Amino acid sequence: MCIIANPQELKKRHVELAAKQERFPKKVIVCCGTGCLANGARAIVDAFHAHLAEKNIKDFTVEAVKETGCHGFCEQGPLVVIEPQGTFYTRVKPKDVAAIVDKTIANGEILSPLLYKDPVTEHRIERYHDVNFFAHQSRIALRNLGKIAANDIREYIAVEGYQALAKVLTTMTPDTVIDEIIKSGLRGRGGGGFPAGKKWRTCKSVQSDIHYVICNGDEGDPGAFMDRSIMEGDPHSVLEGMMICAFAIGAKQGYIYVRDEYPLAVVHLQKAIDECEANGLLGDNILGTDFSFRIRINRGAGAFVCGESSALMRSVAGEVGEPRAKYIRSVVKGLHDQPTVLNNVETFANVPIIMLKGADWFTSIGCKNNSGTKAFSLVGKVRNTGLIEVAMGTTLRTIIYEIGGGILENRPFKAVQTGGPSGGCLPESMLDLPVDFDSLTKNGSMMGSGGMIVMDDKTCMVDVARYFLSFLVSESCGKCVPCREGLYQLHELTIKICNGEGTEEDLVRMEKLSESIIVGSLCGLGKSGPNPFLSTIRYFRDEYLAHIREKRCPAGVCKSLITYTVLEDKCTGCVACITACAYNAITGEKKKPHFIHQDKCEKCGACVAVCKFDAIEVK
Ligand SMILES: Cc1cc2nc3c(=O)[nH]c(=O)nc-3n(C[C@H](O)[C@H](O)[C@H](O)COP(=O)(O)O)c2cc1C
Ligand code: SF4
Ligand code: SF4
Ligand code: SF4
Ligand code: FES
Repeated sequence: MCIIANPQELKKRHVELAAKQERFPKKVIVCCGTGCLANGARAIVDAFHAHLAEKNIKDFTVEAVKETGCHGFCEQGPLVVIEPQGTFYTRVKPKDVAAIVDKTIANGEILSPLLYKDPVTEHRIERYHDVNFFAHQSRIALRNLGKIAANDIREYIAVEGYQALAKVLTTMTPDTVIDEIIKSGLRGRGGGGFPAGKKWRTCKSVQSDIHYVICNGDEGDPGAFMDRSIMEGDPHSVLEGMMICAFAIGAKQGYIYVRDEYPLAVVHLQKAIDECEANGLLGDNILGTDFSFRIRINRGAGAFVCGESSALMRSVAGEVGEPRAKYIRSVVKGLHDQPTVLNNVETFANVPIIMLKGADWFTSIGCKNNSGTKAFSLVGKVRNTGLIEVAMGTTLRTIIYEIGGGILENRPFKAVQTGGPSGGCLPESMLDLPVDFDSLTKNGSMMGSGGMIVMDDKTCMVDVARYFLSFLVSESCGKCVPCREGLYQLHELTIKICNGEGTEEDLVRMEKLSESIIVGSLCGLGKSGPNPFLSTIRYFRDEYLAHIREKRCPAGVCKSLITYTVLEDKCTGCVACITACAYNAITGEKKKPHFIHQDKCEKCGACVAVCKFDAIEVK
């Protein structure tokens, strides 16, 4: 491709490329996101190339194979979709490819064993959009994931990529762009939910020759992969969002700060930047206008706190990634002390489509003060885990029971944790809560960047608080005492309670300490750090008291408070547990009840996992 000289030429290319896509609707979509690649997607692509070349089926040439980004349903991967029918195959192996080509592609036959089996109805589902996991989603930020090849600018242009930029450059002023973003109500998707347009307006208003745009792709929350999937699977939507922001605030230079553990995202973003430069969409006089802009990638430093805006800017500047005081606003004095807009990956991915379809379209989705959608990584004890996107205001129940398919093994739901490590846990009584920034915060949790962990009755909420606090203790940068020492003490006290040594005075102490940590910490890590404790004590006080008063862990998790015993009436003497126990703690004769020696038992749970007769009690 050569330079696209002006918006008219971009439109012409879009029309040609879209028409080509329409002429060839037959496609073999192979998910090549990180999850599916790890499960062998590359060998599947190779197998399709080889078989399609050999079979010479009309309109199903090697070019029909499309390598897309993550569909979000990684646990079922590698995924293959045959278009235009939308036949959806899961857990595909290279050895399945010959049958897919010979039967489904050549003859329209469905290979039932490869279809997704609904965990509730146990029916095999034939089409992609009929799978509950996808059917209840509304995709805006993830709109192109699983649809376009991740690594080819022509695919993005074919789906109206860069048309929003062309519209902005030719028909709008920086102020009207900002007005539209403000009108859309777009709130930052990286955690705080701050209105993006307001941030842009303040930054633009600062008198300076230099303004910067930064995209936050640090995504440090354990288990979250929304931003990674967008950067890997649809990098151009992020670049286009940044370009529109740069035009609005008058920036010539942008940076994308990518978590160091995301090598594929770096490769795809760099390829997208190179393609843009080669096509005149980045560099000087973009699309023949006065607008010039460049983007560079910075790799993260591996610290959770570097995702915090001021720490991130320091890290980009080559300094130690430590947060700074909040009275210095980065929209006024950000990177290299220049006015800077920093937004999250998902926030930027929303921008092009808002500019294309308009603010009114965006506000028609979602709920009051929370327009649009939010992506989540849905994990834990649900049947369907993965990356999802729903309209703001969707209830937790819909997410967990419709999209997630309900709780694994039909166990009772206990809690859902949202908001990343410093988020909060919500109980069953909150299942009908609409998921939006304000409702979550009001009820003691938060949106964060979109982590959502579902827990069943086998989860100990004191242990959950202990786990998240241990993460925060190790990630505190240590600059302020309340965060560094306070979180450490909170963590120690949760350990004490898990060990059955806690007192009710400890709970009072922990509540007081939490207040001091919130007031005295500099950045969001410390300020929201006590949340794991505060939300669990708010909704699960009984469980704390059971540990303290009765020396009992109701969920059967805290090792100091549980014992494993064989139920004689249930034990068949199958000996499976003897083999599983690495500590030689179980004895017994074949076909006779077995016995666990408490002095040797390390409470690892291996025996429970192998006993098919529910004959081991944990109490
Ligand atoms: C400890 C800490 C870690 C953070 N990590 C991230 C992150 O990984 N990604 C992100 O977008 N925002 C993160 N944030 C929030 C950012 O500071 C900032 O608010 C956000 O990137 C702004 O973008 P937005 O307005 O589009 O949400 C973090 C905040 C704190 C306090
Ligand atoms: S609150 Fe914690 S992470 Fe934030 S600056 Fe202070 S010590 Fe560092
Ligand atoms: S695995 Fe279960 S049934 Fe088999 S011997 Fe052990 S306790 Fe008994
Ligand atoms: S819990 Fe672990 S150590 Fe204890 S009896 Fe079972 S397998 Fe052995
Ligand atoms: S990587 Fe394939 S579905 Fe996520």
